[in-house]
Amino acid sequence: MQNGSVSAKKLFIKTYGCQMNVYDSIKIESLLKHHGFIVTQEIHDADLVVLNTCHIREKAAEKVYAELGRIKLYKDKKRSSGGDVVIAVAGCVAQAEGAEIFSRAPFVDIVVGPQSYQNFPELLQRIKQQEKWVMNLDFTEESKFDNISAYQDNQGVVAYLAIQEGCDKFCHYCVVPYTRGAEYSRSVSEIYREVLNLVQNGAKEVQLLGQNVNAFHGDGPDGTVWGLGKLVKHIANIPNLERIRYTTSHPQDMVDEELFEAHRDIPQLMPFLHLPIQSGSNNILDKMNRKHTREFYLKIIDKFRSYRPDIAFSSDFIVGYPGETDEDFADTLRIVQEVEFSQCYSFKYSPRPGTPATLIENQVPEPIKSQRLLELQELIHDYQMRFNGRFLGKKLDVLFDKVGKKNGQIIGRSQYMQAIFADGILSNQIATVAINQIEPHSLGGDIIA
Ligand code: 5AD
Ligand code: SF4
Repeated sequence: MQNGSVSAKKLFIKTYGCQMNVYDSIKIESLLKHHGFIVTQEIHDADLVVLNTCHIREKAAEKVYAELGRIKLYKDKKRSSGGDVVIAVAGCVAQAEGAEIFSRAPFVDIVVGPQSYQNFPELLQRIKQQEKWVMNLDFTEESKFDNISAYQDNQGVVAYLAIQEGCDKFCHYCVVPYTRGAEYSRSVSEIYREVLNLVQNGAKEVQLLGQNVNAFHGDGPDGTVWGLGKLVKHIANIPNLERIRYTTSHPQDMVDEELFEAHRDIPQLMPFLHLPIQSGSNNILDKMNRKHTREFYLKIIDKFRSYRPDIAFSSDFIVGYPGETDEDFADTLRIVQEVEFSQCYSFKYSPRPGTPATLIENQVPEPIKSQRLLELQELIHDYQMRFNGRFLGKKLDVLFDKVGKKNGQIIGRSQYMQAIFADGILSNQIATVAINQIEPHSLGGDIIA
């Protein structure tokens, strides 16, 4: 690599942000393994360090620069002992900031966007040929998926799979349409092959990913365009695939009748839906360019419940959006009470460079944002406890996929996406758990079958 060759090429990847980034990191690993790398969990062993980054909020992006500062010390140390390490910044910070990364952190070698990491081997080759500051930010989704499909991976019992990428919604606060590009759906046959492979490698649960996953419109094997509902029904035919989930959905795209039917008819489709609303106020939803109202959102919730009465809902919220009044915020609190979410993510509005919301003059002061976030999170927590409390003394189906911190403890997810812990060993089977403990963010119980 740079300044000489490296015999045992070791790759260290650190991933920030959403599940799509987790998936992309898995694919980067598979690709680079195919090109002679082995993965290390120890940064000090690495010949190539990849930071797969997130740009959604300022804090996420700043974390990357803090980490780069630490990595520079490591690079200096390696160089002073005659070695070297190649540093690559991948993902959404790479896409959004491009060459700016080289000015802020000149010791970075490669900047590569989320649509171009299939070119990693070529970029590494250029570094090997002593080229400095190599960058690729091209948007060529089709060739990305064409390329990464060839690299099969073994993700274990819970596996991720991108079926759709990009976003055309342009919510006024959000960088995603700029960092991930326009909506693109993969073909049904390509997805089916990838799911089949994951299941053959031990996956019991597959999570279908997309920035607007329910906008999925992939070419079907019959020559027509398929929606998400039809895709779910199709992959549910794969033997030994026991759980299907999909994330993240947009309310405006919840128009696929087959998806509602799938929640009623397909037992593998889990009774849980992450459906971000962002605000409970129509005034703010309009300013955010969300293209839906609170009433429309509530209608969707009711419709899902009429098809699958036990379905649990989660959401994302932004507080302190420019112009948000106390009344607007009260509407947000009210929607939490009306829907009775089982869990939620909530964030303070973070102005992102280049997005229209930064131009609104009426920014909400930081202390008010903090106060509102606290109040909202307390309410969300109440409803989460209330939801979880219903299961005390009851049974949940749990797919355990991790060992816990305590000796002998394992951790998994219920059908409703609750984190569950119990004593046992990982068996790659769905277990029945009798719940006897309710913690703020998890439930405990005994495995009974
Ligand atoms: N500030 C705060 N939160 C944001 N999100 C997206 N953009 C911003 C921003 N500028 C949140 C939204 C989205 C989640 C992934 O991140 O709630 O659904
Ligand atoms: Fe961002 Fe809105 Fe697209 Fe979600 S729907 S990725 S919040 S622009």
